[in-house]
Amino acid sequence: MEQEQEKESNNKYIFPKWSNSIPKLIMLLVLGGLSSIVFVFWFWFSPKNLEVGYEPEQPIPYSHKLHVGELGIDCRYCHTNVEDVSHANIPSTDTCMNCHSVIKTDSEHIKKLKKSYDTGEPIPWVNVHMLPEYSYFNHSRHVNSGVGCVSCHGRIDQMEVVRQVESLSMSWCLECHREPAKNIRPLDKITDMEWVAEDPIALGENLIKEYHVNPKENCSTCHR
Ligand code: HEC
Ligand code: HEC
Ligand code: HEC
Ligand code: HEC
Ligand code: HEC
Repeated sequence: MEQEQEKESNNKYIFPKWSNSIPKLIMLLVLGGLSSIVFVFWFWFSPKNLEVGYEPEQPIPYSHKLHVGELGIDCRYCHTNVEDVSHANIPSTDTCMNCHSVIKTDSEHIKKLKKSYDTGEPIPWVNVHMLPEYSYFNHSRHVNSGVGCVSCHGRIDQMEVVRQVESLSMSWCLECHREPAKNIRPLDKITDMEWVAEDPIALGENLIKEYHVNPKENCSTCHR
């Protein structure tokens, strides 16, 4: 009888004391598991991430590699207002016809341009980069503070077809707003795709003072 009682009381201790916290542990694992699944879905299937590498086919195979990389045309010849307003313009057919009224006029693609020029029907270029409507971006503010096109658009001069190289996510914006120095270059190098500073951070820190650069992190900067 005594023996049995002893057995019983021993039984009580088959599960050690810390077992009390097992339910909590399981809860944590389940919740942790759930949120990492949510995270994976959010990360891989949110459009922002799919857009890295987004490279839609265009109605005319216009090549930045040829026109910028090989012919050396400056970005601002076509994207004329990028220093002045928030949205950068896509050039009208007129700009293309400055050259193509005489260059390659027998090409099937240039005939399309000619037709657009004659009829006044714009070429339906497909948008590559697009922020959600609730966020605000401004090209002129960046370009005039010494942030070059290459910092956000990559080596456009090597692209046959324009491809989105950055996520354009909020964390991407904020990463640079917090530590802009390495991305600040002299204003005359804004559209230069090849130029790199010898010591980008030291130069950037000087230019930040010279240009009075002070990017903000408060919500209303980009959500207004
Ligand atoms: C000769 C005219 C021309 C020049 C020069 C030019 N572009 Fe473009 N750019 C275009 C045209 C046309 C499009 C629209 C078709 C396309 O996306 O390829 C475009 C599209 C773009 C886009 C994608 C726009 C979107 O829809 O999101 C970016 C970014 C861009 N250009 C950056 C640059 C940069 C940076 C330079 C200079 C290094 C440059 N461009 C030089 C004509 C030009
Ligand atoms: C400063 C002059 C200049 C401007 C402006 C210009 N191009 Fe060109 N483009 C050229 C030259 C030069 C070639 C190469 C011709 C060759 O291969 O002999 C060319 C080639 C092309 C080709 C390839 C044609 C083919 O069939 O081989 C296309 C397409 C084209 N350009 C579209 C455009 C578009 C669209 C614009 C306006 C956004 C534009 N170009 C603006 C000079 C220009
Ligand atoms: C700080 C980052 C940044 C810099 C620097 C930058 N861009 Fe952009 N660019 C963007 C973003 C973000 C978008 C998408 C804007 C939107 O959807 O409102 C964009 C869109 C564009 C577009 C499509 C039209 C538009 O405004 O939506 C063109 C063309 C373009 N950029 C050209 C340029 C050129 C040329 C330069 C250099 C002179 C440049 N960008 C510098 C971030 C940048
Ligand atoms: C590579 C660096 C860099 C990236 C990436 C960047 N920014 Fe900026 N941003 C700056 C700098 C530098 C300034 C200029 C601050 C100044 O002039 O004081 C600025 C200024 C701005 C301003 C103007 C603020 C004002 O006071 O009017 C807005 C709006 C803005 N950024 C939005 C964005 C958004 C939205 C994104 C992402 C889609 C973005 N930025 C990505 C560097 C960057
Ligand atoms: C430098 C620019 C910038 C600042 C500052 C900024 N945001 Fe954003 N935010 C963005 C951009 C761009 C997007 C759209 C891209 C994305 O969803 O990541 C965005 C998206 C969001 C979203 C949607 C999230 C999602 O994943 O769809 C929320 C919510 C948000 N911001 C809240 C805030 C709050 C709150 C603050 C202030 C603490 C803030 N933002 C500051 C640029 C900014």
